[in-house]
Amino acid sequence: MTTSWTKSDWRKLPRLQMPDYPDALAVGVVEAQLGRMPPLVFAGEARKLKRALGQVAEGKAFLLQGGDCAESFGEFSADNIRDTFKVMLQMAIVLTWGAKLPVVKVGRMAGQFAKPRSAGTEVMGGLELPSYRGDIINGFDFTPEARVPDPARMLQAYTQAAASLNLLRAFSTGGYADIHRVQNWISGFTAEDDAERYREIASRISDAMAFMAAAGVTSETAPELGQVDFYTSHEALLLEYEEALCRIDSTTGVPVAGSGHMLWIGDRTRQPDGAHVAFCRGVQNPVGLKCGPSITADDLKLLIETLNPENEPGRLTLIARFGAGKVGDHLPRLIRAVRDIGANVVWTCDAMHGNTIKSASGYKTRPFESVLREVREFFAVHRAEGTIPGGVHFEMTGKDVTECTGGVRAVTDEDLSSRYHTACDPRLNASQSLELAFLVAEELQALRDQRRAVAI
Ligand code: PEP
Ligand code: CO
Repeated sequence: MTTSWTKSDWRKLPRLQMPDYPDALAVGVVEAQLGRMPPLVFAGEARKLKRALGQVAEGKAFLLQGGDCAESFGEFSADNIRDTFKVMLQMAIVLTWGAKLPVVKVGRMAGQFAKPRSAGTEVMGGLELPSYRGDIINGFDFTPEARVPDPARMLQAYTQAAASLNLLRAFSTGGYADIHRVQNWISGFTAEDDAERYREIASRISDAMAFMAAAGVTSETAPELGQVDFYTSHEALLLEYEEALCRIDSTTGVPVAGSGHMLWIGDRTRQPDGAHVAFCRGVQNPVGLKCGPSITADDLKLLIETLNPENEPGRLTLIARFGAGKVGDHLPRLIRAVRDIGANVVWTCDAMHGNTIKSASGYKTRPFESVLREVREFFAVHRAEGTIPGGVHFEMTGKDVTECTGGVRAVTDEDLSSRYHTACDPRLNASQSLELAFLVAEELQALRDQRRAVAI
């Protein structure tokens, strides 16, 4: 990695989507406090995730990344964390079953607090106020006071992230995620059809486990059956927070972002000479890059060379987010750009951010059909190009919310107001998430059949 990098280089560069704090002194105090805190993740974990993503790039594993659009202080609870974790476990089981591949599980959790916005201000009832930018920056309430950026929020975000990670680690390794409990992960909010299909898989896995136990293989003798690797990720948007949690890895001497295992750069802040790219290029964590319709092939090449100069497997994940009906217009040209420079990348599909619409009832929503269609288009383009569809990226929750329309339990436009709880973009609920997992598993199965047919 580059030697001339320092964690504050970004400060000299154009910064987009970041707050102007009114009290610079107060920001400095918070940064110093965060600088003394322990990092939330350790470099060895980030390297392990990078290795796992290297397997994804080769088609030997599949990436599942999901969680809230924006974590919030108000919605923080052990139940919410458990429910999202549980749905991700269910989805991973369905995908593993379909693809016969290990699934790399990455939550948009324990740090996903800062939001880029399409407009700097919001107008309501004739009043214009600065936009809400996520709980780590300002408050959601539509009052002038709440919308002032407050650096003390970074400390609350850090504390919440630490508590979330603590629980996630406990769930991952403390017995909850033991594969022998696969039948207990089903959620009460799942549509009967999907629950039935899930139970079928779970019961076959349980049979296999009973057979293995008889042969002497249990969670005691094979600890990997008793736990999962679960990683965290968020958009590295608020660079004061990221810089304050950046550490030097004592094993390698290379900087590591201590705020989460994987960081990504948003579609609005991926300028090759901008602050966000400047920060992310110097940390050793796996990095994601959102690629929306406006990204040019030249910018993509430059970004790849900047962010992954050594062409290290698993370092860079390209998160395509074009919108249903647009994948064919953009993904092939970007795949060609990647091929031109022989770059090693993971291709994944964020089927949410190109599919946001305003419903007739006024709510921001995403039709399940559009999400599914974008995923299918993503797989189809990769099939045509002979490249690897490495994963999927969803905004989702384990709760029974009504934020995206459609799915087998058919959330309608009129239903949106009933349980619309997101602090930012609309999320798939537990039932819609599991349904999508089954549909993605079908795509993966088809891909496997196709590969086998070619091999024969
Ligand atoms: C997000 O992932 O919540 C987001 C804002 O995405 P994008 O940068 O792709 O718009
Ligand atoms: Co979002």
